[in-house]
Amino acid sequence: MVKIGDIELDVPFFQAPLSGYTDYAMRKLAFEMGCPLAFTGVMLDKIAVHPKAVRNLKFQPGSDESPVGAQVMGSTPEVMAQASAAFEKMGYDLIDLNFACPAPKVLRRGRGGCMLTKPEAAIEIFKQVRDAVKCPVTVKLRICYGYNDGTLENFLQICEGISREGVDAIAIHGRSVKGMYRGKADWKTIKQVKEKFPATKIFGSGDIMDAETAVERYKSTGVDGIVIARGAIGNPWIFREARALFEGRPVPEGPSLQEQGVMMLRHFEMLLKLNPERKSVPYFRKFSARYCKRHPQRKKTLMALLKPKTRKGIHDAIREWYGVGMKDISDESIAVNLRS
Ligand SMILES: Cc1cc2nc3c(=O)[nH]c(=O)nc-3n(C[C@H](O)[C@H](O)[C@H](O)COP(=O)(O)O)c2cc1C
Repeated sequence: MVKIGDIELDVPFFQAPLSGYTDYAMRKLAFEMGCPLAFTGVMLDKIAVHPKAVRNLKFQPGSDESPVGAQVMGSTPEVMAQASAAFEKMGYDLIDLNFACPAPKVLRRGRGGCMLTKPEAAIEIFKQVRDAVKCPVTVKLRICYGYNDGTLENFLQICEGISREGVDAIAIHGRSVKGMYRGKADWKTIKQVKEKFPATKIFGSGDIMDAETAVERYKSTGVDGIVIARGAIGNPWIFREARALFEGRPVPEGPSLQEQGVMMLRHFEMLLKLNPERKSVPYFRKFSARYCKRHPQRKKTLMALLKPKTRKGIHDAIREWYGVGMKDISDESIAVNLRS
């Protein structure tokens, strides 16, 4: 059992925030496969304080997914606090502050991973957000800005400061900001951070591509939770597998082709309810590329799934390679149920 504030989770494997991926559709399927907690992709604080944007369906949490964390990014404590309160009001169950994003345009604006160069500002943002909401507040960090530039000290200062101010959990991606996604994640440092801050909930992130690794990292590092990121794209079954292993059961057999096809079709149909067809079709390609990794004829399936430019084209490809069509899924299974 993992507790984040008053939220209780029965297994320690969570769906990571993934910008451009973890929308309602991906989160809902993760929950169905046994994931106990999911996050939105990063959202700019300015969005939440804009009433028109808040009404956009894409920013709303679902009524059939819970608990969901809204991940917020910005650089001004007052706006971050206002935004967090707005997301809480929209129904999100917790607020996660992004002090980790390595995108150059984000860093240029002093946001995301840039916080590792200004620890006092990061702690001040946390304090103001903490005061502005009732729900749990977590923070996402990388272990430093660049290696050997002194920012590991800043990272520890932020962990110290936000622990003192009552952070509900810190999720640590074991790479530097400058390192982007290169090299292997540094789990040794993640383990040391947990040892240094035993009273703070620490979640680890980095290179969790299968259920075995998720369970192994959990057991060998002493962290309180494992964040599954790229390993869950087009692979919601990873949560079912991690849960089984964690509970001492054998890993369930992989999904049949029929199950895979149903999952893909449902995922695509839910996307269509939130975005127009001209956006959903290309958007779904990056999911298809991952889903078809399990197909015995991966390359041919991938080619077939990447070509279509229309909904019908995607349907035809799924029918051809997985033997699944709309008659195999119910309306209820592709319903988009929002909280407001
Ligand atoms: C495409 C992509 C988008 C991401 N978006 C976010 C994000 O919005 N917020 C965040 O905190 N981390 C984001 N991350 C980082 C992941 O949550 C995770 O910490 C990182 O990918 C390391 O885990 P992995 O090696 O298991 O993928 C993103 C990563 C990728 C690959």
